[in-house]
Amino acid sequence: MSIVKIKDLTFKTFIPEAEIQQRVKAVAEKINRDLDGKNPLLLAVLNGSFIFAADLIRHITIPCEISFVKLASYQGTTSTGEIKEVIGLNEDLAGRTVVIVEDIIDTGLTMKRMIESLGTRNPASIHICSLLVKPDKLQVPLNIEYVAMEIPNDFIVGYGLDYDQQGRQLRDIYTVIDP
Ligand code: IMP
Ligand code: MG
Repeated sequence: MSIVKIKDLTFKTFIPEAEIQQRVKAVAEKINRDLDGKNPLLLAVLNGSFIFAADLIRHITIPCEISFVKLASYQGTTSTGEIKEVIGLNEDLAGRTVVIVEDIIDTGLTMKRMIESLGTRNPASIHICSLLVKPDKLQVPLNIEYVAMEIPNDFIVGYGLDYDQQGRQLRDIYTVIDP
């Protein structure tokens, strides 16, 4: 087990690189089976999913395309508070099979917002692919078809995920240790 310190927090190894790679490959193989002939458009949500998306697409053997979007957060005027807007999407989604590629689904509110926004662009179908899911935290119903790993509620970093923008380059996934 290895320990890393990032700012005020200490983390320990949680999911080693080799296991991440195995799980990512298994998810890609399911996409290969399910979406053969559909020329899926992977839509990776930056920043957190960049490493997962890079590994995932290299295990996808069917014709596919990839593009990247970001979410702009701002304080909305509604009672729900923070509204997230999808930015950077130039592709025409009409009739496309879209696979949203996320790093982690926590409450699921980000993903719900993504689906609502992309749904207005008339895709043939929208599928969810997430490296990690915290099932106990999910607040909204989501059909998560492609998930590499389910994890407990603890805060994690590495393999693209950050703590205050740090730690994304760690090859393993680390979980926070109580101080
Ligand atoms: P949600 O809208 O609550 O599902 O939030 C998902 C977003 O929160 C992810 O895209 C991450 O950016 C961030 N997030 C949630 N849990 C973690 C974590 O354990 N480590 C790092 N980022 C996280
Ligand atoms: Mg994210």
